[in-house]
Amino acid sequence: MRVLINCALPYANSSLHLGHIAGAYLGGDIFARYNRMVGNQVLFVCGSDEYGTPITIRADREKVPPKQIVDLYHEEQDRNFKDLDIDFDIFSRTTYKEHADLVQSIFLELMKKGYIEEKTTLAPYCEEDRRFLPDRYVTGTCPYCGNPSARGDQCDECGRTLDAQELKDPLCILSNTTPVFKETKHLFFRLSLFQEKLSQWVESHREWRNSVLQFSMGFLSSGLKDRPITRDIQWGVPVPVEGYGDKRIYVWIEALMGYISAAMIYSKKVGAPDYWQKFWREEARTYYFMGKDNITFHSIILPAILMALGEYNLPDYIAANENMNMEGKKFSKSRQIGLTVNEVLRVASKDYIRYYIASVLPETGDTDFSMEDFQEKVNSELIAKYGNLVHRLTSFASANALVLRTPLQPDQSDSALLSRCEESLNTYLGHLEKIEIKKGLRVWIDLVQTTNAYFNEAAPWRLLKVDREKCIDKLSCIYRACQYLTVMAYPLIPSASNRIWKDLQGEGSIESSGLSKLKASFTGVILKRSEPPFEKFAIESTNPNTLDLRVGKILSVAEHENASKLYLLTVDLGERKINLVAGLREKYRPEDLTGRKIVVVANLKKAKIRGHESQGMLLAADDGQNTRFLTVPDDVPAGSPVDIGEFRFNGKEMVEIDDLAAFKLGIRNSGEGLAATAELEGSMLTLNVRGRTVYPERDVAEGARIR
Ligand code: MF3
Ligand code: ZN
Repeated sequence: MRVLINCALPYANSSLHLGHIAGAYLGGDIFARYNRMVGNQVLFVCGSDEYGTPITIRADREKVPPKQIVDLYHEEQDRNFKDLDIDFDIFSRTTYKEHADLVQSIFLELMKKGYIEEKTTLAPYCEEDRRFLPDRYVTGTCPYCGNPSARGDQCDECGRTLDAQELKDPLCILSNTTPVFKETKHLFFRLSLFQEKLSQWVESHREWRNSVLQFSMGFLSSGLKDRPITRDIQWGVPVPVEGYGDKRIYVWIEALMGYISAAMIYSKKVGAPDYWQKFWREEARTYYFMGKDNITFHSIILPAILMALGEYNLPDYIAANENMNMEGKKFSKSRQIGLTVNEVLRVASKDYIRYYIASVLPETGDTDFSMEDFQEKVNSELIAKYGNLVHRLTSFASANALVLRTPLQPDQSDSALLSRCEESLNTYLGHLEKIEIKKGLRVWIDLVQTTNAYFNEAAPWRLLKVDREKCIDKLSCIYRACQYLTVMAYPLIPSASNRIWKDLQGEGSIESSGLSKLKASFTGVILKRSEPPFEKFAIESTNPNTLDLRVGKILSVAEHENASKLYLLTVDLGERKINLVAGLREKYRPEDLTGRKIVVVANLKKAKIRGHESQGMLLAADDGQNTRFLTVPDDVPAGSPVDIGEFRFNGKEMVEIDDLAAFKLGIRNSGEGLAATAELEGSMLTLNVRGRTVYPERDVAEGARIR
């Protein structure tokens, strides 16, 4: 069977966090590995969603070109996925030319078929900024659920897609003023034509998850309206229609086509340009993984477009997850809640991360990621039960030179274990087929426990002296069970599973041969003594970094009205702006500071300095002669946290000026130039933003103090 697996294209505008992984990507990867393992032909696709307001809003704020943002995050997200063994056949980009070509040709085809219509509409126009405002540039109150921070394209609270006109009390996010509604032309997709067809189609999918059915039916029952599919924006795929030069295709419409373009680009790459058609036009099952706020785009908009085009497979299953929270709180970039993939990879291996998240996937309701539970589950299940089982087996067999083979005279308990393995495998595969990953994992851990119990019961160390053949039979049963367990673990923790497969003298990799191996008889298996397959997992809970250092961007510089050494700065910290009082007036002219990136202590208790409140402190190096502010390369976004060595701010408290002395902040020559350093628990560490060094803006003597 052919299986197409599409994972929602993440916006290339921020770092991936664990909420994203739990919402869409880990499940997709586990499902892809499961399908490969059972012999299906899989195409597993994702890519960066790079156009539209989510990107330009960030770019506007940081005053950099959008391309710079998407390049940075495409690369980071691609690496994050690889680091977690989330192994797409292709991680495409919507800025590829092939993508724009496909989108435009689909657009034209929809027009030709009469599904696109020009309408004059009222669009929000900001008189302050003198421009029409595309979707996310307007916020207001949701007319359906009353959420006060709904956006002009969607309400994240109730999940409805919106038009800016529907918002109550709309505001322009750039100027914070109320937009006026002016006439302009847009092209509309005639979604209303699909009311009947889509309703029947959704009705025919009673097997879908409840939340997916509910969102979709709710959406249908409020009546489908035609949707504008052009936007007043420059950053996007051009509209291939006369008179639309200053508009672009709506990012959602275009990104959804990214699934098809990615499959096409992959096909070209492997030298079989028509390969994608086997998944999109011929018999195949098609699956979509995403977080729940993407549901209606996949259950209504995408199928409507595909129906309009004809000849494309409609989604068979929409695996939309609920939310995984972090220690009880919703992941939030702006409020710094939740771990990014980069952060968690510093403290835990990918197999631990995958195992734990798989055990708390929000498949049917919200779940919680807790650090304590993370360590507890990994240590007590993965390591103490499974790792230890394998290690007991290899140690005992090798220490006593037992040569394992298919049991010769299985007794009742042996046969019971072996048939239990077969049963568990089938139940497990059944759960994975239905994308009930958590249930699958429980079946697996149950079999681990059963096998441990069998091991204890069999007590091979006693049999060894009295009945060596029987002892070998028992060990061979355990060996067989470990083979089952290791194959079953493969979709969940592929790296560990393949490593253990080797310890079990398995040939090849599980992906290609595992399942068939379980049926074959075996003989002459000599296990070598091996290390325990996992290291105990403990996260250093004593992170000593109490400094919330952040990259800031100086927005404006004013002179203090009477203190001749002081400037009053406003600084952009990404999600908020702060005022700083800084003693740089004798060293820098305002024009040398404006627009520059600096490093700020952002958790300093507020202080009044000569009548002005300072909400932090700018760091500068001083060698007695020169004073140089600390800085970072210009493409580092404002708001980025600055780490001391490996240590990110531990998030605990506010500090006072006097606390800074303990960090012995200074300038060292690292061999690759000057670097800002700090001392933590006796070691000298470099200040860095994701590994990129913080340095003084110009030369300053080594050994300079930072203050
Ligand atoms: N970029 C969107 C998000 O992160 C998802 C797009 S899914 C696609 O919410 F199919 F449209 F690409
Ligand atoms: Zn709402």
